[in-house]
Amino acid sequence: MSHESLTPTTVDELTPPDSFGRSGGETLVDSYGRHVSYLRLSITDRCDLRCNYCMVEEMRFLPRAQVLTLEECLRLTSAFVDFGVTKVRVTGGEPLVRQNVIWLLERIAGLPGLQELVVTTNGSQLERFAPLLRRAGVRRLNISLDTLRADRFRKITRVGDLSRVLRGLDAAQAAGFERLKLNTVMMRGGNDDELIDLVQFAMDRAVDIAFIEEMPLGDIGQSRRSSYFGSDEALDRLRTRFVLLPSLETSGGPARYWRIPGSSTRVGFISPHSHNFCDTCNRVRITARGELYPCLGDAHVSHLLPLLRAHPTDDAPLRAAIVRAMAFKARRHDFRHQMDAPQVLRFMSMTGG
Ligand code: 5AD
Ligand code: SF4
Repeated sequence: MSHESLTPTTVDELTPPDSFGRSGGETLVDSYGRHVSYLRLSITDRCDLRCNYCMVEEMRFLPRAQVLTLEECLRLTSAFVDFGVTKVRVTGGEPLVRQNVIWLLERIAGLPGLQELVVTTNGSQLERFAPLLRRAGVRRLNISLDTLRADRFRKITRVGDLSRVLRGLDAAQAAGFERLKLNTVMMRGGNDDELIDLVQFAMDRAVDIAFIEEMPLGDIGQSRRSSYFGSDEALDRLRTRFVLLPSLETSGGPARYWRIPGSSTRVGFISPHSHNFCDTCNRVRITARGELYPCLGDAHVSHLLPLLRAHPTDDAPLRAAIVRAMAFKARRHDFRHQMDAPQVLRFMSMTGG
């Protein structure tokens, strides 16, 4: 590939005049013409659970000095919103284990130009946090839920208590979020016999549910091949019980949605393996370490933390680095050959779900 085609494009002429209080009206466009409008920010690599597909049992977490401070998180997010990003998802690890997370969320929600602030959580602290999140301006939540059986939940998460998550879900429903979505990682022999029950549970609660194919992120000390369960098989299985009608709705992401007649519940499938969604990818990720990953499945990274710290009051070097990184957004990812030995050596808890 010529170097030319890797040059970032910043299309000032496509941006509306600077009416949003942005500095230059400059937007982020990668070398394949995809606009980046969605930032996923991991604010901690820590978590109060130890899901077996995500972490090893004895996880070593980052020393605090290597993790973005909340002020740095805000400064970074603000730069992206300034570049026209309209949606921010705060993730982890588990974002709600981070001290003063509400302080950060309130400020992100207030950034001019931001349209949507959403949070992904494992739900274990939601009973306490749900009303605070809603008041801070969080519009939607994704809550991880892989099983409805307490013993399995403990086995998968190693330390978790299902009843706490269910109480957290109650609290989130009471707090009045615009939408709640359950996220279920599908595991053959782990929870594949519960897919129907989980959809029924989502319908009873009038929340959405998305089934996720396991991705080869991080070395979990075992092959993932035997536990891999694909979306097509899941769909076949659900169809033995429910009528699923394809929906054109999209959340702007990799999920394909289905509807069940007579129910408000949407059933999504996030299929990084069996259906490539890279053509319409609009997102980038920042890790708790301040690394900007233009693509989840690709190793290319820009280290923003040293820049933030070297230039505490001047955003120009940071902005230039962000624009430069767009040129490295991969055209597409391919997880197919990575299920035995992970090529992507980052854990999901590092990169953000
Ligand atoms: N593959 C797929 N999903 C994963 N998650 C964590 N690790 C993986 C993985 N290797 C899920 C979490 C959560 C979501 C944000 O990502 O369970 O539901
Ligand atoms: Fe986009 Fe990369 Fe995700 Fe593919 S893997 S959808 S290119 S971020």
